[in-house]
Amino acid sequence: MSGLAEKLYLTGDLSDEELRALITSDEQEEAETLRRRADEVRRKYYGDKVFLRGLIEISSYCKNDCLYCGIRRSNKDADRYRLSREDILACCENGYGLGFRTFVMQGGEDSFFTDDYMVSIISEIRSRFPDCAITLSLGERSRESYKRMKEAGADRYLLRHEAASEELYSKLHPAELSLRNRKECLFTLRELGYQVGAGFMVGAPFQTVDDLIADLRFLQELKPHMIGIGPFIPHHSTPFADEKGGTLELTLRLLGILRLMFPEVLLPATTALGTIAPNGRELGLMTGCNVVMPNLSPVRVRKKYDLYDNKICTGEEAAECRGCLQRRIESAGYTVASERGDHFSIHN
Ligand code: SAM
Ligand code: FES
Repeated sequence: MSGLAEKLYLTGDLSDEELRALITSDEQEEAETLRRRADEVRRKYYGDKVFLRGLIEISSYCKNDCLYCGIRRSNKDADRYRLSREDILACCENGYGLGFRTFVMQGGEDSFFTDDYMVSIISEIRSRFPDCAITLSLGERSRESYKRMKEAGADRYLLRHEAASEELYSKLHPAELSLRNRKECLFTLRELGYQVGAGFMVGAPFQTVDDLIADLRFLQELKPHMIGIGPFIPHHSTPFADEKGGTLELTLRLLGILRLMFPEVLLPATTALGTIAPNGRELGLMTGCNVVMPNLSPVRVRKKYDLYDNKICTGEEAAECRGCLQRRIESAGYTVASERGDHFSIHN
């Protein structure tokens, strides 16, 4: 089958069989059509703008034990840290001066960050930086917790669903974590009025093409505002140390498909993509991505947020990361947007 990228561009959807053929096609022409059409669609909705999100990695403590993750609780070699309220506010201050208008607080599931503590941090950021968006990525919490953090001023929440197939989800996670709860959290967040981000790793151990199709179908059901995907990269102190990582080609293929299936979505060119190829993020931008997430965490903790091996951007100051990414964005033919960068639907 050929002409599938063109069909996806024209109709916004394909049958499972067609998606399978497009995901696995080795025709160069098909890949090029997909890239070109994905870029055309992102330009139609967002022009050449790339939105920056300042990532603050607030804790490397985690009570979970996801098999792929370098900061899982069973990794006794992990060097743990957590940022204080003052550290986090200083990152925002620094980021604001560098032009960031979205702050993303991400971390392992660390019970030190109680609802009261998070509410106090979020309220303080909200009052000091009223023109900024506040994004959280703190894993699975209760409805009440999500609600309180929303009321305190949080705008967005990133929670990758990780795998929409029960079978794969259970191979990547310990028994105490369930796909059902993960999905429930995502629908709750949506209902509470967050702009929601879901997503998955590409090339995770045991992942089949049918699993990827299940991920795309779940995203069609959830209709998230943001979709985060990146290649799986092994970490040497996890059970998946010897597994193969996801490839650049397959990740780009899925990014192109996502842009055509979800024309208005906010789609980051992730750090993991930049880790597996020196120009991975630029290629992502040229295949439909419109977000990058430079690191604002203090340099002293960067290496400790060690999700996978050889993670890039762990030695530079925030200002250097910002400058480096600006050059990369411009070299790929895009411009850095200085606004909050909300989902298209918020303004229309
Ligand atoms: N604890 C929060 C959560 O569960 O959503 C946020 C932190 S978690 C480390 C952020 C994301 O990192 C996960 O959703 C996962 O997809 C990604 N990740 C973890 N280990 C990875 C690996 N080895 N390779 C690529 N991505 C990985
Ligand atoms: Fe909790 Fe990875 S296992 S952040």
